[in-house]
Amino acid sequence: MKHKISVFEKLIDDSIRRVLKDYQPRTLFAPAEYILSLGGKRLRPLLTLMAADLFGKNPEEVLDAALAVEIFHNFSLVHDDLMDNADLRRGYPTVHKKWSENSAILSGDALVIEAYRYIAKVPVDVLPDILELFSTTAMEICEGQQYDMDFEQRLDVREEEYIEMIRLKTAVLIGCALKIGAIVAGAPVEDTDLLYEFGINIGLAFQLKDDLLDVYGNPETFGKKIGGDILCNKKTFLLIRCLKNASDRQRAELNRWLTATEYDPDEKIKFVKNIYDELNLKFVVENLIEKYYLASLDCLSLINIPDDQKRDLISLSENLMYREK
Ligand code: IPE
Ligand code: IPE
Ligand code: MG
Ligand code: MG
Ligand code: MG
Repeated sequence: MKHKISVFEKLIDDSIRRVLKDYQPRTLFAPAEYILSLGGKRLRPLLTLMAADLFGKNPEEVLDAALAVEIFHNFSLVHDDLMDNADLRRGYPTVHKKWSENSAILSGDALVIEAYRYIAKVPVDVLPDILELFSTTAMEICEGQQYDMDFEQRLDVREEEYIEMIRLKTAVLIGCALKIGAIVAGAPVEDTDLLYEFGINIGLAFQLKDDLLDVYGNPETFGKKIGGDILCNKKTFLLIRCLKNASDRQRAELNRWLTATEYDPDEKIKFVKNIYDELNLKFVVENLIEKYYLASLDCLSLINIPDDQKRDLISLSENLMYREK
């Protein structure tokens, strides 16, 4: 069924090219077109199409909603890069580096507005529910992003707080992408809820993997700066568990790096990573990823549809767990 996924991917790719294309003024819309043109995995719109397909709906009929989710995702990346002070996205300069911080703010805003224009195109009978879901999700992402920022300043973030933060900033959009596809396809409420929970678990695993790649990824393929999270003192699961398990010597060293104001960035990344390695934390996080992946499969298995029709969704999720970018 690889064929089906590549058809969906082509559909998404062809239509995203037309979003905000040639709008004026270029100073506002060129950055928006730029971030959309850099591609990325296009995971979320694919999930919307696959969810609709699971319930027998023609993907063309959920395409606008799928695009809305991807446009919103791209907005979140433009502002996220500004907040994370990131120079590289999908292997290219971030919008605020290529243009300016003001451009990143305003072109990001334009992307949100365009996302709402696309989501409003769903059939009127499902529009109220979908608008509510989309808006709730959008607000939750802001909440998650704020926690992410707040946690940079704290040393006492608990693992449960971290999981809640990544549920908000990342997992809900993946759940939402799936649920929208299922709602438009007319799936029963129990199934749209199960698919959402499937997405939440996949999303938690996805962000944990993103945090791992931020430290252990291959700079050639990852498309973002390796070690960016370490430089910002991001309270990733790695760092939280590290603070918990560190020996006195390791904790003292860690504290020195976390409070240092003048340092060589590569040195900081190297030393912090070295403590992660001493504590075998990559392995710990890989196990947690596996746990959420298995929980996601449990949700999917409860959906009352023949197993062979779920195969694509399962193999896609499995690939995400082992991805390199
Ligand atoms: C990046 O999302 C932001 C996170 C939630 C980790 P993706 O890894 O899906 O980014 P693209 O769209 O493929 O570039
Ligand atoms: C981003 O988390 C989540 C959102 C964009 C809402 P990250 O900050 O880890 O994402 P990347 O690593 O920059 O893609
Ligand atoms: Mg970031
Ligand atoms: Mg971030
Ligand atoms: Mg990241």
